[in-house]
Formats: sequence, C-alpha cells, structure tokens
Amino acid sequence: MKSNAGGDDAKRAAGERAAEFVADGDVVGLGTGSTAAHAIRRLGERVDEGLAVEGVATSHGARELAREAGVPLRSLGDTARVDVAVDGADQAAGGDLIKGGGAAHAREKIVDAMADRFVVVVDDTKLADALSRPVPVEVLPAARASVAAAVRDAGGEPTLRAAARKDGPVVTDNGNLVVDCDFGRIADPAALARTLAATPGAVEHGLFVGLADDVVVGTPDGAAAVESEK
Ligand code: 5RP
Repeated sequence: MKSNAGGDDAKRAAGERAAEFVADGDVVGLGTGSTAAHAIRRLGERVDEGLAVEGVATSHGARELAREAGVPLRSLGDTARVDVAVDGADQAAGGDLIKGGGAAHAREKIVDAMADRFVVVVDDTKLADALSRPVPVEVLPAARASVAAAVRDAGGEPTLRAAARKDGPVVTDNGNLVVDCDFGRIADPAALARTLAATPGAVEHGLFVGLADDVVVGTPDGAAAVESEK
C-alpha cells in the first residue's frame, strides 16, 4: 500500500519546507511516513539551533524518529490541541486526503484534527483530480468480517492488509487490523467518510475530508510549492 513513486528529493523538499511553518514555543504534531520524516529531521535541526518545541507523535515510528532527531516529546494522551501538525498523505485532491499507507491513520487523524494548522506534505505524484486509491480502514479484529461486509454493501472491495516481513496481517499500533477498501473513483468523499465512520467495529478510516489547511507539494528538482486550502 505504500507509495514511493515520488522519489526522495521531492519528499525532502516538501517535508523540509513544512518544518518552516513551526514557530518557537509550538506544540507540533509529528506525522508518519517517509515525507513527514523529512519534516521531523529538519525540526530536529531547528531544535539544535535553539527552537523550543514539543512534538506529539502519530505513531511508534514517528516517536522513534523524533527521539533520534532530538525533538522533545509529550504524550498524545495528555494533549488536546497542537499548534501545527505536519503529516503526509497517500493521495490528495483539492485538500481532501487518503491516508493510512503506514497504518497510522487513527492516531494521525486525532493529531491532525486537533491542529490549529494542519500542513500536508506530499510529492507531486500524490496529487489527483479525485480520490481513487483504496481507503484504509482500521478495524477491531472481532469486526473484520462484519466491516468487510459493510464495505461491500457500500460498493467497495475490502482486502485485509498483509504484513510485509511477518506472516499474517498488519497489526496497528493500537492492536487492530487494517482493511484496504477499493471504491474506485470516490465521487463524494464526505458521504463515504460518514458511511465508514458509522460502521460498527471500524475504529477509523483514512479519508481526511476538509482537515488540511495547507498542502506543500515537493517536486524532484527540490522545489516546494504551498497550496492553501482554507
Ligand atoms: C501513514 C500515512 C502516511 O503519511 C502516508 O502513507 C504517506 O507516506 P509517505 O510519505 O511515506 O509516502 O498516512 O499512515
């Protein structure tokens, strides 16, 4: 489910540009994935230069990287708002997103939604006219079959996400499974988001509708353009 299509230079350009949105004293949401990782590393450099921030990690991976980069951390469970969140996406269309390629979308949505400013970082291959990638849905293990049936009823094709270097399925940081749900081109993301959110046993889905404030788009030549969505 992960996409590395855009190349690291484009991801780096977006991530490092987004790190400049952070101001002294900010509480910062730290996104998950290879593009957000560039923002975390750049933030670590800015901390070395004297910037005072507290990071809130969206995943085990983001937390480990923040520790390595020297970004001070506070716990998500004790946090109700952040100033800026910087996070990647698997696809972006007019500010609406599909996230969850790293199976972290439940915590990512908590953090990104509580941000005063949510800055999305993508390479230019992630931009689309309409969302069309499979939508990751984190499900309680006991709801795997019932959520899959509900997804089929809604017109989607569910696939349990398999782990890459372990037998069996992906298990999230929350101890749940991930079902990737292919709906083809999604004409009405908000309506689909409501349907998935109302499905019993579906903990969180990867549609982020109307949450992004800015989308920073990196290109392979190392440039980054900021698109304001609000
Ligand atoms: C993790 C995510 C990531 O932000 C998304 O998959 C993008 O990752 P990358 O920057 O590595 O392409 O949603 O759950």
